[in-house]
Amino acid sequence: MAIFNTNKKPKKIGIITSGGDGPGMNAAIRSVVRCGLKYGYEMAGIMRGYAGLLEEEIVSLNHRSVSNIINRGGTILKTARSKEFSDDEGKEKAIEILKKHRIDALIVIGGDGSYKGAARLWEKFGFPTIGLPGTIDNDINGTDQTIGCHTAVNTALDAIDKIRDTAHSMERVFIIEVMGNKSGYIAVEVALGAGAEDVIVPERPFDFERMCKDIKDGNTRGKVSWMIVVAEGAGKGHEIANTVTTMTGLESRFVVLGHVQRGGVPTGLDRILATRLGAAAIDCIRRQEYGKAIGVLQDEINVIDFKDATHKEFKHLDEFCNLVKILT
Ligand code: F6P
Repeated sequence: MAIFNTNKKPKKIGIITSGGDGPGMNAAIRSVVRCGLKYGYEMAGIMRGYAGLLEEEIVSLNHRSVSNIINRGGTILKTARSKEFSDDEGKEKAIEILKKHRIDALIVIGGDGSYKGAARLWEKFGFPTIGLPGTIDNDINGTDQTIGCHTAVNTALDAIDKIRDTAHSMERVFIIEVMGNKSGYIAVEVALGAGAEDVIVPERPFDFERMCKDIKDGNTRGKVSWMIVVAEGAGKGHEIANTVTTMTGLESRFVVLGHVQRGGVPTGLDRILATRLGAAAIDCIRRQEYGKAIGVLQDEINVIDFKDATHKEFKHLDEFCNLVKILT
């Protein structure tokens, strides 16, 4: 097992984006790199997530490397999901590569899975890591928002506003799938923001009979169109659409918004969040505080242990779901 002298001041910092990308990651990279350079660190970019790290895809980053990216979606470092990195052998190999490149600390921008990898590097192998919450799913503890979520919600709302036009004109029920395999956060935000009639999330059981009865009752009162938002992990949208048609006799359509939500120009909120988080990551390394996940909670920078950052329970889920129904 690798042993590190974590009292030694780091000289070279690596930065990596991992897992699903999200708008605002580039703003975070820019902030990390420029703050790091300002405090005299050498900065290295690891390409294509942990997969690229295992392939030794490491580049040197300077001030200019991050010019003109604050407004761009995606990640200039690229990203990936890596099976090889998921076990301890993969992590030991990664640490050997980091050592070979004289990288003393690693800043990981990613979601739940990426955090677990970064946590293990620190907790089992003592390699200094810091996490920044980069995922559209908003499923990381210790931060009100993750980088990319705000933009993703707005992108989905933009699409649903357009669907509303055709739903109303053609008098249909639309089942709209948004991203979120284990997290219903995007779905409930989007349902509230779009004025949807119902929302189906992976975290809660759903009463389809009740929904179909509500649709039928509404139709009797003269209502002609419906927008039902379903999170990716909550069930098969086309089956839901078929059920609706069978049980209500109304025409339905199923739309998957999919990866559209992961791209595009980051909103101001995501850029600013990412920029603050990037600076805070460098501050953490200057204090030689490692194994930490950084967030912004009630507008303040918040630093917590990795172990407390994953498995977020969305505390307003019931409130949001109920509000969607009340407003229907
Ligand atoms: O990054 C998170 C996320 O967008 C989830 O909402 C979604 O379930 C998943 O990534 C999709 O991953 P992939 O792009 O690898 O199919």
